[in-house]
Amino acid sequence: MFGLGSNLRIGIDLGTHSIKVAVVEKVGPRFRLIKWKCSEMYTGGEKYDPEGPKKSVAVPHLMKVLTELGLQPRKVKHLASCIGGQLVAAKEISSIMQTEIEMASSLLLEARKHIPLDGSETIVDYQILGDDVKETDKVRVLLVATTRKAFETHQDYLREIELKPGIIDIEPLAVLNAYVVHSQLPDDGVIIFLHIGAKRTILSVFGRRDMFFTRDLPVGGMHFTDELMRNFGLEYDEAERIKKTQGMNPSIERKTAEGAGLGLAERTTLEKLGDEINRSLRYYVKETGQSVFTHFVLTGGSAMLIGLDTYLSNKFNLPIELYNPFNQLDSRIPIDADNPYQMAAAVGLVIRGDM
Ligand SMILES: Nc1ncnc2c1ncn2[C@@H]1O[C@H](COP(=O)(O)OP(=O)(O)O)[C@@H](O)[C@H]1O
Ligand SMILES: [Mg+2]
Repeated sequence: MFGLGSNLRIGIDLGTHSIKVAVVEKVGPRFRLIKWKCSEMYTGGEKYDPEGPKKSVAVPHLMKVLTELGLQPRKVKHLASCIGGQLVAAKEISSIMQTEIEMASSLLLEARKHIPLDGSETIVDYQILGDDVKETDKVRVLLVATTRKAFETHQDYLREIELKPGIIDIEPLAVLNAYVVHSQLPDDGVIIFLHIGAKRTILSVFGRRDMFFTRDLPVGGMHFTDELMRNFGLEYDEAERIKKTQGMNPSIERKTAEGAGLGLAERTTLEKLGDEINRSLRYYVKETGQSVFTHFVLTGGSAMLIGLDTYLSNKFNLPIELYNPFNQLDSRIPIDADNPYQMAAAVGLVIRGDM
């Protein structure tokens, strides 16, 4: 065990498919990666649970991952974790600079107008994104919200294994943080971030000048796997393996599962994702007037799906950057990750400035 309780920071991204944990140490202004792990919850023939992960699956698995990393939950002092999914929302506003107390009370009132989350009780917080370059006496403020229920459920998962909840972020911001610390944002135009998980894709748009925007798209890795299962009559495990090694057009015999004939008009999962992205970008252009998109930044477990980058760059005529969050960390251990992109949110969490 490495002097836990000292200055080690832990970032936990409790996903729907995999649990991602990053452990770093702050050395001056830099972060040094000490350990990390990405651990899939559905192995051994169980099919991915789109409603999950249930507490009975997630909590013991998280405990197992921490034990494998040599971490004792009770001794963790600097923890950051995140909540994702439909139950979070974010909206950028421009506000005059205020003291922290003024900011808290006025913005939280403001937030209730801007971010209605299905009528249930919401919790709101904010993060200053920086100066407003258009109106110099103002700052860019990002309001974030989640439901009290989602927030408490998340804390409950952590407390169950005696982890003391620390900073709790929303997943889109965790991903953004992983990127902006060392990568340049464009002065003109905006970047499109796609964080492609198992169940959903988080699309965010961000640049130095223009409004931050994020939306959850209902397409993710499981839909690609389901498509392979349907078209080739495969079991879940096999479809996952083929997806990772061959992509969506594998060289195996097509064998449509019974009752699931592929209608000619049916769009592929990739096309559905493309259409969702298109719709969100049109909305962004309409809302902000900004239509200069510089490139895509891909993260999340499904970012490296074979053929995805080509599809996106052809459809939108934009360059693609697969973003490896480890690149901005120092490390004494070799990082031989098969899929480093999956670790983006965990790394974004662990390098937050204010932990
Ligand atoms: N090499 C790969 N190629 C394609 N898909 C992958 C690859 N590695 C992982 N995935 C997919 O990524 C998804 C998990 O992504 P992740 O970001 O961890 O999701 P979540 O955050 O919801 O747990 C799964 O659908 C998995 O099949
Ligand atoms: Mg995720």
